[in-house]
Amino acid sequence: MKDTYKQIQVVLDDITRLNVDAIVNAANNSLLGGGGVDGAIHRAAGKELLEECRTLGGCATGESKMTKAYKLPCKKIIHTVGPIWKGGDQREAQLLASCYDTALKLAEENQLTSIAFPCISTGVYHYPRKEAAKIALETIFKHIRNGAYKGDILLCCFLPEDAQIYEQLLKEHLYDKS
Ligand code: APR
Repeated sequence: MKDTYKQIQVVLDDITRLNVDAIVNAANNSLLGGGGVDGAIHRAAGKELLEECRTLGGCATGESKMTKAYKLPCKKIIHTVGPIWKGGDQREAQLLASCYDTALKLAEENQLTSIAFPCISTGVYHYPRKEAAKIALETIFKHIRNGAYKGDILLCCFLPEDAQIYEQLLKEHLYDKS
């Protein structure tokens, strides 16, 4: 288990600044931009990103699609659409896990060596942040344990409390109480 920790880093940063192979965007089903991290990524990447996104035909909740990164320092953007929190009985947990799962599958398929995730669904979509963090870690560790993804994983938090939640979960193995 020790080794798996080496693959995961919690960072407090603006994801548009990260020089990694891919950053993950918490998008909406249209993939045509929005607020939050989606807005920040589109502003920083420039208008060519929107032009490419227009060709993708949207994205279902829980699915992921990859584009170029244009003016961003990273190489690729993986757009995923998280669930809107509706109380927890509308498959939100499975859909959120699927965001991390499908994004990591794209990273594996494209032999990416580093990927940065924002805290998907915990902003405008109101997913409770500690539950979301547990789902993120459970899904990420599943990929690491089965050896599918061997690169670095950055959990890029914009808010200090999100970084504290991840640090606590990693320290206390809470994510493993499945
Ligand atoms: N870098 C990293 N994380 C960021 C940044 C940034 N520049 N800006 C915001 N965040 C964080 C938020 O603090 C939150 O923890 O991203 C996380 C996800 O929040 P949102 O961006 O609101 O995404 P989400 O909750 O998944 O809602 C998606 O919001 O922006 C619209 O088009 C988007 O409709 C979609 C919805």
